[in-house]
Amino acid sequence: MVTRVHLDVDPGSDDAVMIAMALGHPSIEVASMSTVGGNSTVDNTTRNALAILERFDRTDVPVARGASEPMEGTYDTAEWIHGENGIRGDLSEPSTEPVEAHGAELIVRQAREHGDDITIVAVGPMTNLAMALQLEPSLPDMVDGIYLMGGAATVAGNKTPMAEANFHNDPVAASRVIQSGRPFMAGLDATHDATVSGEMIDEYSGLDEPYDIVGPWLDYPDEIKRLGGGMDPAIHDAAVVAHLIDPAVLTFGSYYLDVETTSGLCRGAVVCDERRVTDNAPNAEVAVAADTERFRSVFEEAIDGLLEG
Ligand code: BDR
Ligand code: CA
Repeated sequence: MVTRVHLDVDPGSDDAVMIAMALGHPSIEVASMSTVGGNSTVDNTTRNALAILERFDRTDVPVARGASEPMEGTYDTAEWIHGENGIRGDLSEPSTEPVEAHGAELIVRQAREHGDDITIVAVGPMTNLAMALQLEPSLPDMVDGIYLMGGAATVAGNKTPMAEANFHNDPVAASRVIQSGRPFMAGLDATHDATVSGEMIDEYSGLDEPYDIVGPWLDYPDEIKRLGGGMDPAIHDAAVVAHLIDPAVLTFGSYYLDVETTSGLCRGAVVCDERRVTDNAPNAEVAVAADTERFRSVFEEAIDGLLEG
């Protein structure tokens, strides 16, 4: 079975790994992409998205530039993690341009065209998706599923003690997306275990294309590696596509969630009714664990697939 996906991204090195895996694996068809500010400015993330596609000879995939600002405030970008241009390694300037539509419009257009034959994957701040929901409130019922990388339901954050970076960057959008109709949320609870090893990074960096392109995307500053509890870097966004390829990568549980939208200490924190102390019915499927070995095996298979593409 082939899963058709629309990828909403802020590449971003782990976004880039996810895109590469989706392009490389025969069970995923990348129909379209939209970009959002987050890891860097939307100008940079759009350029990076186009450059990644061009590097892998997939300029046929339309890319729509999306939000440059969150619903309130500004994005707190992370070039110190992802590199000056928002991505590590060397990518040439793309020769292609984004399509005319806004990222949110492209999401809606794809949902209307493909219905339950498309899955939406959002792995940056949730701004485009929240805007798409404003344009088309039935979006969650139209598509096959909405998968998010974001949030920390039952564990500490990585941007603040309470919040994961994507949700912290646009908590209003994250809250709207969570309330919109049972998304699959892959947050730090699980993605901290979607790691690669130092040996894998060394091996990739010493090989030819496509491995030498992917190698630098895998290697994170030590401060970031440590957040996962070890020194193997978590490739957060890639966990979602890995799960679409192999549904045993992530384990999900049903919970009631909301996201704190204030600007104080808890901005972007997920409030998860883990012990079911309210009467609120579950409104999200939350990834509670990731199988590291399965993740690594899907990752290697998908990157190997780029050679055949
Ligand atoms: C998430 O934040 C971004 O910096 C990464 O690309 C990923 O989407 C991890 O918290
Ligand atoms: Ca991302």
